[in-house]
Amino acid sequence: MHDQQQHDILIIGSGAAGLSLALKLADNANVAVLSKEALSEGATLYAQGGVSAVLDEHDSIESHVQDTLIAGAGLCDTDVVRFVVEQAYQSIDWLVDLGVDFTRSDADSGTNSPFHLHKEGGHSHRRIIHAADATGKAIETTLESRVRQHPNIHLYEHHIAVDLITTNKLSKPGNRCLGAYVLDINNNNVMVFSAKNVILASGGAGKAYLYTSNPDGCTGDGIAMAWRAGCRIANMEFIQFHPTCLYHPMAKSFLISEALRGEGAKLVLEDGTPFMQRYDKREELAPRDVVARAIDYEMKRLGHDCVYLDISHKSAKFIEEHFPTINQRCLDLGIDMSKEPIPVVPAAHYTCGGVMINKDGETDISGLYAIGEVSCSGLHGANRMASNSLLECIVFAHAAAESIRKSLATSKFPGKLPEWDESRVTDSDEEVVVSHNWDEIRRFMWDYVGIVRTTKRLQRAQHRIELLKSEITEYYGNFTISKDLVELRNLAVVAELIIESALRRKESRGLHYSTDYPVANIDDKAVNTILNIKTSENDPVAA
Ligand code: FAD
Ligand code: SIN
Repeated sequence: MHDQQQHDILIIGSGAAGLSLALKLADNANVAVLSKEALSEGATLYAQGGVSAVLDEHDSIESHVQDTLIAGAGLCDTDVVRFVVEQAYQSIDWLVDLGVDFTRSDADSGTNSPFHLHKEGGHSHRRIIHAADATGKAIETTLESRVRQHPNIHLYEHHIAVDLITTNKLSKPGNRCLGAYVLDINNNNVMVFSAKNVILASGGAGKAYLYTSNPDGCTGDGIAMAWRAGCRIANMEFIQFHPTCLYHPMAKSFLISEALRGEGAKLVLEDGTPFMQRYDKREELAPRDVVARAIDYEMKRLGHDCVYLDISHKSAKFIEEHFPTINQRCLDLGIDMSKEPIPVVPAAHYTCGGVMINKDGETDISGLYAIGEVSCSGLHGANRMASNSLLECIVFAHAAAESIRKSLATSKFPGKLPEWDESRVTDSDEEVVVSHNWDEIRRFMWDYVGIVRTTKRLQRAQHRIELLKSEITEYYGNFTISKDLVELRNLAVVAELIIESALRRKESRGLHYSTDYPVANIDDKAVNTILNIKTSENDPVAA
């Protein structure tokens, strides 16, 4: 039983990027939003630290721009950085107007902003507006309540986009995006969605790694779909590892916000010795790549499973007020952070690369946009500065909405699209292949394509991903699709793009660190790694 849906706008993803865009367009258009899980599930929901913006009169746009450029290690697009930083104030205003309840300043805030501002790594001022330590939840739930009330927004939860439909794939001239094939997960039915504009807002790919701060859905689906449709994908080697995820057998993936270090928390070894002063004069507030590498080095040097983050110099009252979520999670696991250090390890956290876009969020394919973590806008360069990503989601949702609105009245619906072809597949009796391959990819990506890389290990990873990809492609061609299989297929593409990009970068820069290459001087000419499927179907090559 097949189903064709037609909307002006199809948004794939319901995080900060997708829901913001839906709200910004819904007064002028009929909008469909897909979410492969419950609406609020995604990285946004778990964001802790906050949103960066110049909100204190002692801070300046110039300072935020410079800090972002320094963190990005020579690869940021300066125009984009300035554009985003300049839009921050009005983005925060928009969120406040919607009802996001940011923490207000108090007597010890140290700024003249009406909001309490945190400091995080790489920022030379307090400029992180937050809702205690659950900023993402405050934003996501506010956006959710607004979209649920809007009559023009149609929500499709538990619907996973499988692939984009383009004129190119239908052997028609040009390359325009016409819609997407979408699996209704609960009913096991592949639907056809057609739209005047399709927007990828599907988040990052942290699940390509065994250890990650990301929730389960971060499998890089949008990056893989855009790649298969012919978009250029840039800078995938720059996977950010957050230095401090909770290390505990029951913790799965739980972040210990950088805002703790902003409040003076020290990284220490098991015996209480601090070590960051040996690595960088900014110590705990050095950019994340520096801190994560220092921790990795200390753990490997000493053969330890974790290091510790100590904020016990702050009172229990301060901790409860500023970090209630983290405090509760630690207490649940028997750790009293007001009295003892928290065991932490680095974990894959943020995908700096992604689908190449311009300042309007447009990709290489007409009618197809990408916003939020799925995209590579030029803001983050070789290393994203803390709390710049939620900001990017809101700014690019606004920019894409402006661009889409201009063409809405004149653009036409694509008409009826071909049904999903299931004539050659049967139900799988070998689900174990899917779960095994998921595990295998995540493990070798952690071991061979992690915080510190070598060419030899990258080559080993490349060899493995080639074998796995052909196995997955064969499986995909023979069996009925499921959510797990769709995600695995995408994860394999994303892993391949990360490995290929890492192999192409013959230097250490930002988040890509290889012991085979000396650290680049950020004044050296920095070049983006751009992969383009158009040149060859099977072998991604630089554009
Ligand atoms: P997400 O919020 O990840 O949403 C992706 C959406 O796409 C989901 O709805 C998902 O269901 C949907 N989706 C994915 N694939 C498909 C598909 N195939 N079909 C249908 N739907 C699909 N950044 C900051 O700036 N400040 C912070 O304090 C901060 N803290 C963080 C803490 C944690 C633990 C994590 C994991 C990240 C943090 N980040 C932070 C990063 C930031 O949260 C993310 O970059 C941002 O939320 C991404 O938003 P998004 O809308 O692009 O994607
Ligand atoms: C954190 O709270 O440490 C996460 C901030 C971010 O990833 O931007």
